[in-house]
Amino acid sequence: MDMIKFLHMNGGNGDASYSSNSGLQGAGVMKTKRAIEQAISALCHNFPKTLVMADLGCSSGPNTLLVGSIVINAIAKTSLEMGLEPPEVLINLNDLPTNDFNTIFVALQEIKGNSANGTHHQPSCYFTGVPGSYYGRIFPMKSLNFVHSSYSLHWLSQQPQLEEINKGNIYLASTTPESVSKAHFEQFQKDFFSFLRCRSKEIMAGGRMVLTLAGRTTDDPRDEESNYIWRPLAMAIEEMVYEGLVEEAKFDSFNLPWYNASPKEISNLVRAEGSFTIDQLESFDLQWVAWKRKKDDNDASKLNETDDPRVGLYSDVAKAIRAGVEPLVANHFGEAILDDVFTRYEKILKNRRCNKEYEAVISVTVSLTRKM
Ligand SMILES: C[S@@+](CC[C@H](N)C(=O)[O-])C[C@H]1O[C@@H](n2cnc3c(N)ncnc32)[C@H](O)[C@@H]1O
Repeated sequence: MDMIKFLHMNGGNGDASYSSNSGLQGAGVMKTKRAIEQAISALCHNFPKTLVMADLGCSSGPNTLLVGSIVINAIAKTSLEMGLEPPEVLINLNDLPTNDFNTIFVALQEIKGNSANGTHHQPSCYFTGVPGSYYGRIFPMKSLNFVHSSYSLHWLSQQPQLEEINKGNIYLASTTPESVSKAHFEQFQKDFFSFLRCRSKEIMAGGRMVLTLAGRTTDDPRDEESNYIWRPLAMAIEEMVYEGLVEEAKFDSFNLPWYNASPKEISNLVRAEGSFTIDQLESFDLQWVAWKRKKDDNDASKLNETDDPRVGLYSDVAKAIRAGVEPLVANHFGEAILDDVFTRYEKILKNRRCNKEYEAVISVTVSLTRKM
């Protein structure tokens, strides 16, 4: 399956959209704020007239604006400290062509309204949309100072060719055959290497890059802990196979084009490609309960409700997962099964008797500098 045609998050601003259901990833971006600020501060010390950045796999919604505002505020703060006028900023927003760019452009008017002319120490900002796959070239040679990407690079460019069936699974599970796991790792290696190769041409010497992706801290990519969100989806579809609602062959041939890399795999690939030095590499957990508690605290309509963050937690997680994979599931199984699958998904998630510590998304962040 070619991801360029089929992979995109749910568009718009509605209840099922990625925009309304991407708070967990937003919390992840906030955890990497310091790394982004450090990169921007280092770049401002080289006095660029215009700082050109790209957010790769930006999707559409508040996180797109969040990344832009972290960068803009970091530029303003550094220029104030240096006593200099801030550079102008060009922010290139990239995603696959089927992404809902229109929703971003509408939302951007708010930021533009506040900063297009630049106030004292607030940089003037300009935005462009760049549709295309970041596994290929999307910018001219040496045109970028800073590249950011969050929660995108775990998506593979294509479904790897498999020699065996990943029976009863749709992800790398503990019962997945070794050959299936190896094929996913090899596809990730190929994709991540191409990503670095392309960026090495587009980023100027001394330029920075901060990448955050879903990952793992264990040696084996088939550990159930880092794939905690996917087991209930496999179970929901399998239930529908037993009930005759989904064909078994369809289930057997569905695998998520996804790979959770470990920090060690990422550092090995950066070293093998050779164009970047690693400034920082770390993994962190995004706990669902902590995210939900914060979400409820910010929601005025929830003020009089119970303060147990587990109330509604699984419904929110199910919506977040649906917003991310609905187009892929619909493309493979047809749209008719969507409501049923995700209702079952939520129910299974709620009834699971598992270690609650697994209820987290494991993320890996790497901060890189383009060698001179
Ligand atoms: C989960 S969203 C992350 C959005 C946002 N960066 C965030 O942190 O919330 C992943 C995005 O990556 C995009 N994506 C996946 N593969 C891509 C590729 N090869 N080139 C460009 N974008 C890609 C998807 O279309 C999707 O919008």
